Amino acid sequence: MTTILGIETSCDETAAAVVIDGTDVRSNVIASQVELHSKYGGVVPEIASRAHIERLDAVIEEAMAKAGIGLGDVEAIAVTNRPGLAGALLIGVTAAKTLSWVLGKPLIAVDHIHAHAHSPAIGLDAPPWPAIALIVSGGHTSLYRVDAPHAIERIGSTLDDAAGEAFDKVATILNLPYPGGPQIERIAKRGDPSAIGFPRTMLGRDSLDFSFSGIKTAVMYHVHGQGKTEGGLEKLTSADVADVAAGFQAAVIDVLVRKTLRAVGRTGLCTVVLGGGVAANMTLRKALEDACTHRHLTFHAAETAYCTDNAAMIAALAYHQLARGETAGLDLDAYASSGKAARGTTRG
Ligand code: KG4
Ligand code: ZN
Repeated sequence: MTTILGIETSCDETAAAVVIDGTDVRSNVIASQVELHSKYGGVVPEIASRAHIERLDAVIEEAMAKAGIGLGDVEAIAVTNRPGLAGALLIGVTAAKTLSWVLGKPLIAVDHIHAHAHSPAIGLDAPPWPAIALIVSGGHTSLYRVDAPHAIERIGSTLDDAAGEAFDKVATILNLPYPGGPQIERIAKRGDPSAIGFPRTMLGRDSLDFSFSGIKTAVMYHVHGQGKTEGGLEKLTSADVADVAAGFQAAVIDVLVRKTLRAVGRTGLCTVVLGGGVAANMTLRKALEDACTHRHLTFHAAETAYCTDNAAMIAALAYHQLARGETAGLDLDAYASSGKAARGTTRG
């Protein structure tokens, strides 16, 4: 039995979790910072870092208490060290290094996006691999071919906005609070998804990449008038707004489902998994599940608790890294992007 403490601070959730053998989640504590960032309409990096510093100790303590264990029972410390906000990542990395050193336990560095790709496996009796993984979050929208927890290959990704970013921006256009995804989903329930035909950007016939900036602009011009960026919202009834939300959501989901099926066709794999913050969207989950059922494909969506940022997925993937001897030294650094060394403001 291997007990791993996971720590996640890549963006605006301060999270810690205790996971046994990569799949048995004993605790999954998340302190959301939404209330701190919502008035700015997005995540403010400095505020995120400060909140992580203030909250992380208590979040780790709560994760240990909920799991009913002490720090002495932990066999390894896992932490997200890429990609994300550099300052925010550093808080988690520093805490994990400290615990690793004090406890004399291995340190494991986890890629946040790989953890999202692996998250649908949490709690399953048998691993779902090989599979096509559609990972849709606020910072990334990508298709992966996952052959094993250590063999995750990106086969398509967004060329501009991530799907979650598009949800958030469209919510801003509709004057809905941040984060916009759940708000759009809520309002879309009252709307007609076919009332407005928003564009589906499929790129080339063979492309597995995504582009969501066009639809965001299409929504803006639909609301405010062609070429305009303001002044139109007050002319819309709440039924019109619901139709915009439903039409936008339907267009994004349509593209996500079609591209995922394209990836299945390309690779010949028979399993599809779904993860990332936008995977909390029930309409997307159902659409992808229906499409898979129709084609006799196996489908697993990550449990909603493991869709938006969390540390259970970090500890879960770390278990497989530890088994392969992939541990990090106390010189571990944080990286804003998935590639090495680049520092910037990429969101996880
Ligand atoms: O994975 P995540 O927690 O953070 C990143 O790694 O980016 O994803 C956050 C994103 C936000 O853009 C949020 O609006 C979106 O996930 N989201 C949703 C829903 N819940 C969260 N988008 C659509 N429908 C939802 N129900
Ligand atoms: Zn994420």
